[in-house]
Amino acid sequence: MPRMQDKVVLISGAGTGIGKATAERLAGEGARVIASDLDQATAEATAQFVAGRALSLDVSSEADWQQVMDDIRGNEGRLDALINNAGILALSAQQDPEETTLEEWQAVQRVNLDGVFLGCKHAIPLLRDSGGGSIVNLSSIAALMGTPHVTAHGASKGGVRQVTKSVAVHCARQGYRIRCNSVHPGLIETEMGDQVLGLRGPDIEVSRAERAAMVPMGELGQAADVANVILFLASDESRYVTGAELVVDGGTTIV
Ligand SMILES: NC(=O)c1ccc[n+]([C@@H]2O[C@H](COP(=O)([O-])OP(=O)(O)OC[C@H]3O[C@@H](n4cnc5c(N)ncnc54)[C@H](O)[C@@H]3O)[C@@H](O)[C@H]2O)c1
Repeated sequence: MPRMQDKVVLISGAGTGIGKATAERLAGEGARVIASDLDQATAEATAQFVAGRALSLDVSSEADWQQVMDDIRGNEGRLDALINNAGILALSAQQDPEETTLEEWQAVQRVNLDGVFLGCKHAIPLLRDSGGGSIVNLSSIAALMGTPHVTAHGASKGGVRQVTKSVAVHCARQGYRIRCNSVHPGLIETEMGDQVLGLRGPDIEVSRAERAAMVPMGELGQAADVANVILFLASDESRYVTGAELVVDGGTTIV
């Protein structure tokens, strides 16, 4: 039987990169995918490709989350998994702790951290009413180390790692049968990956080859590598896994 047979899954930031790859992977295992993105056109393209449905969702907007959950409750009648994937790296090229403005700091937290919190908060009731389910939050290896060139981003991903565990314990203790886990990709070849490679500074590697050489496995990751891990966490195969952090980085953080 397909691993996501009959499961309804909402993916944020599904228009490109890891979100799009996840939509394809989960749909390939029988999921009914609701593809959402700030960019409605790309969400629609993904939805069309996976024979799912597109919804416009700015993850930093609580009103948008309420609308999307009402829509899914009304039109699908259930929700089995939420993939909190949408995220941004930065608003400007450089973001060290001295240069980062409060405005930039808050803008990154609004999308990356408020977005994940709001997603969890508003999905829990529908997941619970569906008999339980899975929340997968996209954090990063940035949550596990200092990230002086993307200060706000690293802090937001640290927050995602932490809120994941709070949601996991809360849902388990309430008996909701909702699991919540975080995924921590290393450098993945997407549009955001290109942005990371574009960062400039005296003490950071700049070329793709140099960056790949820093990874013990000797290569950068692909969106599909992350999608495979998300599939495991979204499916019932991970039924006893909650509050966990799964690193997908070719060994980057173990050296
Ligand atoms: N690519 C990497 O190297 C890498 C590494 C670690 C973690 N991640 C995380 O994985 C997730 C996906 O990254 P990606 O590489 O596919 O990024 P990407 O930039 O390729 O795609 C991000 C998607 O999120 C959407 N988005 C941005 N702001 C949004 C908002 N406010 N509301 C809804 N959608 C919004 C964009 O339109 C885009 O479709 C992110 O949370 C990112 O931080 C990526």
